[in-house]
Amino acid sequence: MAKTKVEFVCRECGSSHHQWAGQCLDCKSWNTLEEIVLLQTAPSKLTILQDLPASKVQNLSDIKSENRIRLSTGLSELDRTLGGGLVDGSVILIGGDPGIGKSTLILQAVAKINQKYTTLYVSGEESADQISDRALRLGIKEDIILLSETHLEKIITLANKAVQPKVIVIDSIQTMVTDGSTSVPGSVTQVRDCAAQLTQFAKQTNTILLMIGHVTKDGALAGPRILEHMVDTVLYFEGDAGGRYRIIRAVKNRFGAVNEISIFVMSESGLQQVENPSAIFLSNSAKPSPGSMVMVTREATRPLMVEIQALVDTASGNPKRVCVGLDQNRLALQLAVLHKHGGIATHDQDVFVNVVGGIKMNETASDLVVMLVVMSSLRDRVIPKDWVAFGEVGLTGEVRPVYNGIERLSEAQKHGFKVAIIPKGNAPKKALQELKIVSVEYLHQALQFMTENT
Ligand code: TYD
Ligand code: MG
Repeated sequence: MAKTKVEFVCRECGSSHHQWAGQCLDCKSWNTLEEIVLLQTAPSKLTILQDLPASKVQNLSDIKSENRIRLSTGLSELDRTLGGGLVDGSVILIGGDPGIGKSTLILQAVAKINQKYTTLYVSGEESADQISDRALRLGIKEDIILLSETHLEKIITLANKAVQPKVIVIDSIQTMVTDGSTSVPGSVTQVRDCAAQLTQFAKQTNTILLMIGHVTKDGALAGPRILEHMVDTVLYFEGDAGGRYRIIRAVKNRFGAVNEISIFVMSESGLQQVENPSAIFLSNSAKPSPGSMVMVTREATRPLMVEIQALVDTASGNPKRVCVGLDQNRLALQLAVLHKHGGIATHDQDVFVNVVGGIKMNETASDLVVMLVVMSSLRDRVIPKDWVAFGEVGLTGEVRPVYNGIERLSEAQKHGFKVAIIPKGNAPKKALQELKIVSVEYLHQALQFMTENT
């Protein structure tokens, strides 16, 4: 009997090792090696990709960017996140939790594109019947070419010889298998090899490739990180599947700004875009309570009002620090600064911080707000509903200015806020109408203002 061979592949970087180890020798990440059983059959030659049109050399000056048309998805918000629409020959990876609406969004976009260009929707997860049921719910009448198939070579042959689509959708990349890979379906190497071949196909034939990818529990794309390196654009769905809002963020984009977001509402008839999202993440409780404050964040090209909440309570046992929507390590740092420079101790307290609406924030401009809400909850002081704040706080307790201060302030003004606690470096030269500016240089000044006025 033939001996089965195994190999260990790193989920993060995709490198393979002969032996299992707790740490990947290449990328140094822990607990990422996965056992893979190698099939005994020899890999078939990838003859299919050799039939594709040959590559050609070009002069840089001959390439005109105005010739590069952008294909609209019919959803203006999604187009904006993509940097103005889909570029020919680009490869886009869409990641998100199961059931968040990946297939729904792509089907809506593909229906629109299909009015002008041929699209091929390949599903490895659902049957053609299931897709047609969804299309019915979404009110889609366009005739999209569906293919329920997981075998990569068959898909590429069909796309290359018969259908020749402008756009190919792969739902999802984790279900695809290729003869060129010896490991079992669904494994890291299969996903990597399938994605590489599809990407090569898209580039050589100038086809737009939309790949849907699943994410693991901790929110990273299942499969190797190199999937992200391979593609041009990576979009992630954020927001809790139970809530109404879905946020789509470009975490990588070769054709536009990163961190650009678009916001959708999941409705009876699919995803509807929210064109003016700036205040939707404010909770609408009538009575203000301690531990809550609004900040103006600037997600990519526009400001957004978000509410940050904190709950600080006496710990029983080891004090917990839990963050939802913010960086956990940063919270530890913020609490240390709050103690050292603000005299507010939380070492015997559980601290929970949450960003309302399931949005994820990477901005350091949230430092000041987090510290203020922690104090508000600890000391039971209500921050008035018409106060906003933003600002980065350094380890020495200084409050540093952040980008686009004026724009953030005018957004706060537009929404009727009355007091803004901001870094001195962001203070406008002229007084603003109806918005009182409290500019602070050090953290203790902000805390003092709060003590005196709440
Ligand atoms: P789906 O696109 O299948 O999610 P994914 O591909 O990311 O796994 O979306 C599934 C959820 O969306 C499902 O719970 C039902 C809901 N939904 C609606 O609320 N309205 C709709 O019109 C559609 C098509 C789905
Ligand atoms: Mg799906």
